[in-house]
Amino acid sequence: GGLVWRGCSAGCDAEDGTTGALTDGNANPGDKLEGSDAAPDDPVHLKRRVGLFSGVALIVGTMIGSGIFVSPSGLLERTGSVGISFIIWMACGLLSLLGALAYAELGTMNTSSGAEYAYFMDAFGGPPAFLFSWVSTLVLKPSQMAIICLSFAKYAVEPFVSECEPPNALVKLVAVIAIVMILAVNCYSVNLATNVQNIFTAAKLVAIAIIVCGGAYKLIQGNTRHLQEPNFASSTATLGNIATAFYTGLWAYDGWNNLNYVTEEIKNPSKNLPLSIIIGIPLVTLCYALVNVSYLAVMSVSEMADSEAVAVTFGNRLLGPMAWLMPLAVTISTFGSANGTLFVAGRLCFAASREGHLLDILSYVHVRRFTPAPGLIFHSLIAVAMVLYGTIDSLIDFFSFTAWIFYGGAMLALIVMRKTKPHAPRPYKVPIIIPYIVLIVSTYLVVAPIIDKPQWEYLYAAAFIFGGGLVYLPFVKWGYSLPFMDKITVFLQMVLEVVPTSTTFE
Ligand code: ARG
Repeated sequence: GGLVWRGCSAGCDAEDGTTGALTDGNANPGDKLEGSDAAPDDPVHLKRRVGLFSGVALIVGTMIGSGIFVSPSGLLERTGSVGISFIIWMACGLLSLLGALAYAELGTMNTSSGAEYAYFMDAFGGPPAFLFSWVSTLVLKPSQMAIICLSFAKYAVEPFVSECEPPNALVKLVAVIAIVMILAVNCYSVNLATNVQNIFTAAKLVAIAIIVCGGAYKLIQGNTRHLQEPNFASSTATLGNIATAFYTGLWAYDGWNNLNYVTEEIKNPSKNLPLSIIIGIPLVTLCYALVNVSYLAVMSVSEMADSEAVAVTFGNRLLGPMAWLMPLAVTISTFGSANGTLFVAGRLCFAASREGHLLDILSYVHVRRFTPAPGLIFHSLIAVAMVLYGTIDSLIDFFSFTAWIFYGGAMLALIVMRKTKPHAPRPYKVPIIIPYIVLIVSTYLVVAPIIDKPQWEYLYAAAFIFGGGLVYLPFVKWGYSLPFMDKITVFLQMVLEVVPTSTTFE
């Protein structure tokens, strides 16, 4: 994942200019938290440093993470057919592209960095925007973190258990250790976190390159028989199954909207935002198509569906004495993605609580390290709970279900604003049919699994969203706070050595 410091999920751009963004290679992570170039009452005009190349890199770097190394098996299992799996992989790419194009209109129309938060604010007003920041801090970001760390763990233990199934408890333990390590990195220093990010991003590209080259080699040798059995007939797909297969595929593409969190930093955004999307997403789609073909050049359909860690199986078959390279590359790649995800999550939490949308303590930063430690710890705790109680597949369903409610919401926001703000400048105007298509598909994605096969995950997700509504009225709108909260805040401040940011700056 790329790094995005989403400093403005909460409409703060007007007053204090703390909106900030951090991109893979070329941003200064400490910008605001370290107060380097920002005095509190001097609105910061962020430098526009994301050009076309870094825009594409940011999209590609965020999207490629754990999914391509864990989803292919699950997708195959859910559809029961190579042909249908492949179509779904491509359709997920197309859907992400269409969604991102609609986001390009939203992002060039409202250029503040908050992405969904900002668009919901414009189109629907405060409460839906609050719900978004509530759900993304409590559910979306921690579940991303949990899924990626579980994938990390799967690959980290795989070489030690040969090709049989690793013990579940071990995988969970390793995932928790990964979360703690990433938490430590991010609490220790902002710079360390970005360096980890940049180095580790390269690793995933290496992993993809190895797989694609290896697959090409096998195909040239004439190893095409597994690709010739698209067996649509044996497919197990029902309408609901297809929707959850999409969840699995779309997880691998998640992050397609990430450039919208940093629109304020893009050079010439009305040109570079759509262009980065048009280049970046098809590029990822192409990579995923090639990787899928490569897997099948090396193993059979049932081997792939059964494989616990498909890239490891791939390495064992093809790389001989170099087989260790695969799990290593994937663990590094996933570790990097998890790191980037926590990094963003910390900023998000920080921004939301500063706006009074979450507990105050979560917006405090460490007195010497300037890292938003309470927010990071809070996220990690939720992620640990998710790791302990969930599995990769159930968490992916939980995540995708929730995320697509909000992606659909953003499409609705676009459509509504075409009506309510017909004359607002739109430097990039997407054909209106596109948001309609994405809205319809996302409605299907959210509704079909509930009808076809109700699961607890969907209920939990709905409960979180509505829970947000219950919190909104008393604590945000009417401004009540719990009587003992002050004491807890002071206690935590002393334990964690954290202070409100204004103290640091003034
Ligand atoms: N697509 C990524 C993966 O396959 C996950 C991205 C998580 N989303 C994000 N915005 N960081 O692991």
